[in-house]
Amino acid sequence: MKIIMLGAPGAGKGTQAIRIAERYRIPHVSTGDIFRSNIKGGTELGKKAKDYIDKGQLVPDELTIGMLLDRISQPDCEGGYVLDGFPRTIPQAESLKEALEKRGERIDLALDIEVPDAHIVRRMGGRRACPKCGATYHLEFAPPEREGLCDRCGSELITRSDDKAETVQGRLDVYHRQTYPLISYYREEGILREIDGTKTPDEVFSALEALLSEV
Ligand code: AP5
Ligand code: MG
Ligand code: ZN
Repeated sequence: MKIIMLGAPGAGKGTQAIRIAERYRIPHVSTGDIFRSNIKGGTELGKKAKDYIDKGQLVPDELTIGMLLDRISQPDCEGGYVLDGFPRTIPQAESLKEALEKRGERIDLALDIEVPDAHIVRRMGGRRACPKCGATYHLEFAPPEREGLCDRCGSELITRSDDKAETVQGRLDVYHRQTYPLISYYREEGILREIDGTKTPDEVFSALEALLSEV
């Protein structure tokens, strides 16, 4: 099963992608997480990506596409994967399609989690993230069992550097300009499914499971 998660920043892509990955035993591939671990590790790629991410802009396609295609050609991705945060531009979607076609493969579903902008700003303010395993929490809506610590791996939770209110608005603008066109793109491909992302995380997951069981 090859799945793409679409939706604005803060729509809950990461929250749901982790659940899907666990349920279907496929890797969760988040380009944001890969960039953040490169920044933390001080790699060349991390140095190049950092400024864009902190400003809430997209990392250029030249850096992003190769990185993602390399990741999904690893052995653990043979049985499928859930992509979270990729593609984010039409050229990224085209490159992915082309690379898969060469291997006789295709994406099965593009799941769009819909949340109005007004909700997003509130969600981002309370978000806490695990730098180790990528799990996300919310002080109010999805608190961890032990304050400040990840339920899954015990690591100390952090506030992401791009979650400042002024950056969040910029990320939403970037989303509407550069990523939103992918909704029509995947609708035309016939694999788009839309989900109401304003419900609770459990309700959103149930809706996703119902869609995935039809594949
Ligand atoms: P990335 O890490 O992908 O960030 P994003 O798209 O902005 O999305 P987020 O991770 O902020 O939100 P999410 O949808 O995963 O929501 P979450 O589940 O955490 O990218 C970061 C940056 O990297 C980009 O800005 C860009 O610079 C760069 N980048 C990455 N990929 C790229 C690409 N392909 N091309 C170019 N550049 C790229 O949920 C949010 C909060 O809400 C959490 O606190 C959560 O607990 C809470 N929550 C979740 N669901 C619910 C719910 N149903 N009800 C209430 N609260 C909820
Ligand atoms: Mg995320
Ligand atoms: Zn963790």
